[in-house]
Amino acid sequence: MRHLIDILELSVEELDSLVATANDIIDSPEKYAHKCDGKKLATLFFEPSTRTRLSFEAAMYELGGNVLTMADAGSSSAAKGESVADTAKMISCYADIIAMRHPKEGAPLVAAKNSTIPVINAGDGGHHHPTQTLADLLTIHREKGRFDNLTIGLCGDLKFGRTVHSLIGAMSRYKNITFVLISPEELKVPDYVKNIITDAGHSFVETVSLEESMPSLDILYMTRVQRERFFNEEEYLRLKDSYILNTDKLINAKEDLVIMHPLPRVNEISVAVDNDKRACYFRQALYGKYMRMALILKLLDIK
Ligand code: CP
Repeated sequence: MRHLIDILELSVEELDSLVATANDIIDSPEKYAHKCDGKKLATLFFEPSTRTRLSFEAAMYELGGNVLTMADAGSSSAAKGESVADTAKMISCYADIIAMRHPKEGAPLVAAKNSTIPVINAGDGGHHHPTQTLADLLTIHREKGRFDNLTIGLCGDLKFGRTVHSLIGAMSRYKNITFVLISPEELKVPDYVKNIITDAGHSFVETVSLEESMPSLDILYMTRVQRERFFNEEEYLRLKDSYILNTDKLINAKEDLVIMHPLPRVNEISVAVDNDKRACYFRQALYGKYMRMALILKLLDIK
């Protein structure tokens, strides 16, 4: 039985295979409409979500399966003090696969160790968000046609941004990647993530300037400064508008730049940018559904 807690648990061959399955689902959805007949996905979300939970649920329905939903911790026995381990044991009695989001780093791993069915990490604190990375990979594949030879700018909250950490891990597996890490001093990428880049033989640049970085980028991955990760409201208010991508800032960008964002956005991309053909973030959210379909099939070992 396989779980997915960290994107690095998947080999490059497995990532490529998931991308191929997702592309086939896009081309021939009817082939997949009954693959999960009789199967149930439990979505256990101890933290708010729009895209991840609903795209997981749409994915299971589009595969012919059903869904058991726990959309917030307050409506479950977690509110009475039940542990993540006991919750996972219980859900194993009712469903075939679990997607779990939790504010505490490592909670989905605890669930996996106590579950008799596959557990997918749908985001744990500031740690990992592997299925967002699957969405990001399909976006890069469909928009750029390759995973090698790319300069990727990551901008915003690179300290707490779990999507950033998971994407750096995944893209470090490919060839000739340069990372441009654009953040305020207070929100720099943690050292353990930088080590992943250098251990893989890639280079990175750290900068505070989005404008100076823009001309070199093939991909710009914007992120939200996450209020929920700050202990100090004043610090959040000081940093929250560090970067706002607007149409003026795109003047020196490449014509084939791919602008990504895991969403939700707050202020960091102005709405006017949505009309730019390089804005891919809403397609990226759609691709997440197809990659989650491919992942559900893989973990349930359904061909
Ligand atoms: N990208 C993402 O994880 O969005 P949600 O928080 O809405 O699930």
